[in-house]
Amino acid sequence: MNQISIYERFVHKAIEEVKEMMNNCGDFEEEQNTCKSSANVQLQMEVGRSSYLDTVKMLVNFLDNKDEYTKRHCERVTKHAVSIGRALDLNDVDLFNLEFASLLHDIGKLAVPDQILNKEGKLTTKEYEIVKLHPIAGYDIIKDISFLEVSRDILLQHHERIDGTGYPLGLNDEKIDIKSKILAVADAYDAMTNSRPYRKDGLSMEQAICQLEHCRGSQFDENIVDTFIGLLKSGDAA
Ligand SMILES: [Fe+2]
Repeated sequence: MNQISIYERFVHKAIEEVKEMMNNCGDFEEEQNTCKSSANVQLQMEVGRSSYLDTVKMLVNFLDNKDEYTKRHCERVTKHAVSIGRALDLNDVDLFNLEFASLLHDIGKLAVPDQILNKEGKLTTKEYEIVKLHPIAGYDIIKDISFLEVSRDILLQHHERIDGTGYPLGLNDEKIDIKSKILAVADAYDAMTNSRPYRKDGLSMEQAICQLEHCRGSQFDENIVDTFIGLLKSGDAA
């Protein structure tokens, strides 16, 4: 069996686990329809968002069993991404989709074998190719959940680079959603400033800012980097 076949088997296993979990957590659509009959629109929105968030958090909890770092990482990335989104005046719908995409951006790592995810040494080329499939796996895992329709596209693009050398699609600047560009910056910053199996200590905030500045205009959107650095330096980043 080749590496891709092994990977596909893991993706299908993860999808089946998520479907089973969704079946066990009740009729979500029915709950939403009940909300629609309420006279209090604000309450509807809050109840709706809260229900959606509960569902997303249950999905993220799956990661906890597999890899505690990834779950904590997703939570920190979400705070950074939403802070950047607010600073850039994204509307409420965009912030909603960005928040859920950020929480779920690495859900596809459910499909990456543990021995690769937790490897202390350098990944082989084949292992790295498997890790690089996680945005597609994440998209596949949530593709049938209707309220994540926009978030799944944001998630799919979170490793694209504005110079077109990212993955999985190699999109360039104008083809990448601004929300994915925000997620990419928040994701990279958190990965740099925290320890990983292959790197004991994370970078300091100042060192990570230098890295972001270095990749500004090639990997990352210039305005988003500037906005985030401004938030970090003023202490307003989450
Ligand atoms: Fe990722």
